[in-house]
Amino acid sequence: MTDKLVRQVLAQVDGPDPRVNEIVSALVAHLHAFVAEVRPTEAEWRAGLAFLAETGRWCTPDRDEFVLLSDMLGLTSAVDEVNHEGPENMTPSSVEGPFHSPAPAREPGAWLSHGPERGRGVPMVVHGRVLDCEGVPLPGAAVDLWQAGDNGLYDSQDDAQEPGNLRGLFTTDEQGRYWFRTIRPSSYPVPADGTAGRLLRASGRHPMRPAHLHYQVTAPGHRPLTTHVFLAGDPYLGSDAAFAVKEELVRRPVPRTGGWGMDGPYEEIDFDVRLVPIGWAG
Ligand SMILES: [Fe+2]
Repeated sequence: MTDKLVRQVLAQVDGPDPRVNEIVSALVAHLHAFVAEVRPTEAEWRAGLAFLAETGRWCTPDRDEFVLLSDMLGLTSAVDEVNHEGPENMTPSSVEGPFHSPAPAREPGAWLSHGPERGRGVPMVVHGRVLDCEGVPLPGAAVDLWQAGDNGLYDSQDDAQEPGNLRGLFTTDEQGRYWFRTIRPSSYPVPADGTAGRLLRASGRHPMRPAHLHYQVTAPGHRPLTTHVFLAGDPYLGSDAAFAVKEELVRRPVPRTGGWGMDGPYEEIDFDVRLVPIGWAG
């Protein structure tokens, strides 16, 4: 009976775009298989539809609850994975998340931190090179950075931060190098007051993301890369609510004193980025 129903639905999928037909047909087949496996009651099915409708009502120009839901189910990371295959030594991509916005251009070595977190947080120096997958430096690459403060908040969530705080756009030098100074970001909870949070609680999950810095790196002739650097030692590294952690992206901050224009103690992170040439075919 169920197979006949699926065939009847699929027989009517005949739009002008073959890719749309493929996507709709697979969605229908998988959803029917879900119903056959789970056998939801009618009340459960209505509750599921109401959950999606409520998810829509949580969406505003500044908040997309569907993106959050996709992140929390690991689907954003799955889509990222199927779209960013490349050579083994490339820097892996990771999800963009909801907090990217245009960053102020900054000079090499500039501070990202200009708010009250500067006096509270652990100072950090972050440096590295942008390279191709053969290790050849890429001068003039754009390195766009954004991060949360020591309180786990981005500028858009925190009245104490000016727009553009904890963000910066850097350009690599002749040796492909970049560096900046900042404060250590904190792990933070994703917004858990909407339907995504309800799903987390119902599943016995926490909403935390391990401490990280976001990178978006572009260089002529190479695929743009969106990724994270995660800080080793964070208690949530093994259970990121957004499933974005990759082993190659974890760095251990090294305690230092002196150097890099710093007065007192600070932590140092060295993170090279390897971009894939456009047209890479394996
Ligand atoms: Fe983030």
